[in-house]
Amino acid sequence: MKVVESIGEMVALSDAFRREGSRIGLVPTMGYLHEGHLSLVRESVARGAVTVVSNFVNPVQFGANEDFSTYPRDFERDCRLCREAGVAIVFSPSPESMYAADRSVLVEERALANGLCGASRPGHFAGVCTVVAKLFNIVRPDLAVFGQKDAQQLAVIRRMVRDLDFQVEIIGAPIVREADGLAMSSRNVYLSDAERVQALGLNRVLAFAAGQVRDGQRDAGRLREAMADFLAGGYPGVEVDYIAIVDGATLLPQAAVTGGTLLALAARVGRTRLIDNLTLEPGTGNL
Ligand code: PAF
Repeated sequence: MKVVESIGEMVALSDAFRREGSRIGLVPTMGYLHEGHLSLVRESVARGAVTVVSNFVNPVQFGANEDFSTYPRDFERDCRLCREAGVAIVFSPSPESMYAADRSVLVEERALANGLCGASRPGHFAGVCTVVAKLFNIVRPDLAVFGQKDAQQLAVIRRMVRDLDFQVEIIGAPIVREADGLAMSSRNVYLSDAERVQALGLNRVLAFAAGQVRDGQRDAGRLREAMADFLAGGYPGVEVDYIAIVDGATLLPQAAVTGGTLLALAARVGRTRLIDNLTLEPGTGNL
């Protein structure tokens, strides 16, 4: 496995892989890898792709009061995990090489990025689209794997790829959870023991909602209310940012739950912002 810091070297290596007929898979990450990231790597490797993991904490997607400077980092461990998982290249550029001091171009998705997390994190998805577009141009992957946990990010990136004609297949990989159901996130490390118990509310309320739907609830308004009550009653440490019941592809609010409905929520537990979601699909036992 090679660790590459230079954009020029990454471009040259990708060109060489392509010349020898290899398919290239990209797994964009901000490092501090966990099982969720590794499942994305495995997805790429299983598809026979020479797998590049980008490890770059992207300053442009963090708001002024967000956790860019404290975002957890452990580059040595990340490299070890990548090596063990069969990654060919860890691409870890510096912020200075990625962003010229006088940079003046942002890639902005204007339909899907405004609601849900976009409403409380203005500019976040423009930062994500900009760095992902740059990574696509540098690595020129045949496929790129993103986690379904960031459902809005996945939808926004699919739209960017469609609208800007990036020649890359976007693969969404299932959410990976801790044994007790908490969705894996690099930010889970911020949680104290007591907050960790409260954080379980996010997974529990999704399971509760799936149960309500199985029992016949189809009214999105009533379902949202029941979810908010469930959290307020059982998980007072969960400060809800939003509970959304939307179409999984368009992210538009739905009045009634149907196949493809996405239940998504974001909340603060202490100083940690967490997200989780569930897609309701016929035949999976949750619709
Ligand atoms: O999901 C993430 O970790 C980041 O948003 C991504 C896609 C690596 C872009 O910085």
